[in-house]
Amino acid sequence: MQPDRLLLRGRLLSFRSEPQGPDDTASFDYIEDGALLIENGMIRRRGSYPDLTAEAGDAEIADHRPKLLMAGFIDTHIHFPQVQVVASWGAQLLDWLSTYTFPEETRFAGEGHASAMAGRFFDLVINHGTTTCVAYCSVHKTSANAYFEEAERRNMRVVGGKVLMDRNAPDGLRDTPQSGYDDSKELIARWHGRGRAHYAITPRFAITSTPEQMEMAGALATEHPDCFVQTHLSENRNEIAYTLELYPQARDYLDVYQAYGLVGARMLLGHSIHLEPREIDALAETGARPVFCPTSNLFLGSGLFDDAGLRARGIVNAIATDIGAGTSYSMLQTLNEGYKILQLQDQKLHPLRAFHWITRGNAVALGLEDRIGTLDEGTEADVVVLDSRTTDAMALRMERAGTLSEELFVLQMLGDDRAIEEVYVAGRPQKGAIGRLPPRRE
Ligand code: GUN
Ligand code: ZN
Repeated sequence: MQPDRLLLRGRLLSFRSEPQGPDDTASFDYIEDGALLIENGMIRRRGSYPDLTAEAGDAEIADHRPKLLMAGFIDTHIHFPQVQVVASWGAQLLDWLSTYTFPEETRFAGEGHASAMAGRFFDLVINHGTTTCVAYCSVHKTSANAYFEEAERRNMRVVGGKVLMDRNAPDGLRDTPQSGYDDSKELIARWHGRGRAHYAITPRFAITSTPEQMEMAGALATEHPDCFVQTHLSENRNEIAYTLELYPQARDYLDVYQAYGLVGARMLLGHSIHLEPREIDALAETGARPVFCPTSNLFLGSGLFDDAGLRARGIVNAIATDIGAGTSYSMLQTLNEGYKILQLQDQKLHPLRAFHWITRGNAVALGLEDRIGTLDEGTEADVVVLDSRTTDAMALRMERAGTLSEELFVLQMLGDDRAIEEVYVAGRPQKGAIGRLPPRRE
C-alpha cells in the first residue's frame, strides 16, 4: 500500500522562471534542509524540514539527505516503438528509417509485443529520472493502447499518439486517411483526459503522409483543440528536399503543416534545425515549439540546433532524447550533448538553465507548468532524487565543487541513470520498497 501521506527530506531545488544567467538567484528556490509533504500524490507543502515536521504528523518519512530533490524530468520527444532500434549503425535519417526503424515498428501491430515493450520502455524511462514523456507510438492503435495502459498503471502524466503515415512506408506500417482519422478519434475518446493522459495528434512527417492524410490530421486538430500535435520538421537536408518535391506548392517545409491548419501553440516540432527565415517568423507568430534532440542530431549527423537564434525571437524551445535515433534515455546525457552542440556555435548552456529546461522549461513548452515541472505546492508529486557522487569520477570531481551550479554541472556532464537514486511518480516511489505497482492486465 502506498502511504497517503509522505514526507520527503533532502536538499530541494525548484525553478520559478527560466534563469537569465549564472547569477539569477531569483529564478529558483533552494532549501538546504528541505522537505515536501505529499498527500494523495500531490505536493501539499514545501518548506524547511524543521518547519514541516510538526505538520507532517504521522506521515511516513523518506530521508534522502544529502541528495538533491528536483521535479521529475520531462522528455518531450521519444519514440516508444524504437526501444530496440537504439544504436543501429551507419545511416542518416532517411536510410536509418527505412533500414532499421520501419521494419522494427511493424512488430508493434501485435498486442503481446506492444504491451511487453511498453513495460520495458517505462521501466527505462523512469529509471533515468523521467516522469513525463511525449511519445510517438507506431501506426497501429495497439501500440498506443499499450503505451497509455502502461502509463496509467504507473499513474504517470504522459502525452502520446499513434503516428499517421499512409505512404513511403512498407506494408504493415501504413494506415489510410480514413483509418488514421478513425483510429485517432477512437484513441482520443478513450485516453485523452483520462487520469493523467493527453493525446497528441501525430502525423509522422510530411514524407509519410499524403495531402489527403494531412487534411484529415488538420480536421482532427480542429475538432480536438486541446490535444497536442506533434511531428518532425527540417531535421535533414535530403528530407527537406524530398518534402518540397512531394509538396511543390509549399513555400517551405513548415508551410506544409501550416497549409493544413496544424501549426499553433500546442504543436511540438521535433528537430527544427535547418530553418528558413520565413519559418522562424512563423514559429514566433504561432507559438509552435521546436524540440531540440541533441544526441539524435549528433548520432544521425543531422545538424546543429540554433537554440540562441530561436530564443532571441521569443520562441520557446523544448528539449528531448528522441530515442531511438537519440542514444540515451537520460535527460542528463541529453543536456551533456546539448551543451556541446551549443559550444560548437559559441552558445552557452549554463547548468541552471539546463536543469530548468528539463523540468519547468519543458513543462512550459507543454503548457503544463501548473501541474508538473516544479516542486510547488499544489502540483503533482513527480520527484527525482539525484546523487551527484554516484560514480568515482563524479565523487572525485565533487571534492572540488563548491557551489550549487558546479554540482549541477557535474550532474549535467557526467550524470546518467546511475545518478538517479529514487523517482516518485504521483508520490509513489518507483525504486524503493513502498508502494507496489498494481498487477499488469492479462
Ligand atoms: N522523422 C520521421 N520519423 C522519424 C523518426 O522516427 N526519428 C527521427 N529522428 N526523425 C524522424
Ligand atoms: Zn523523432
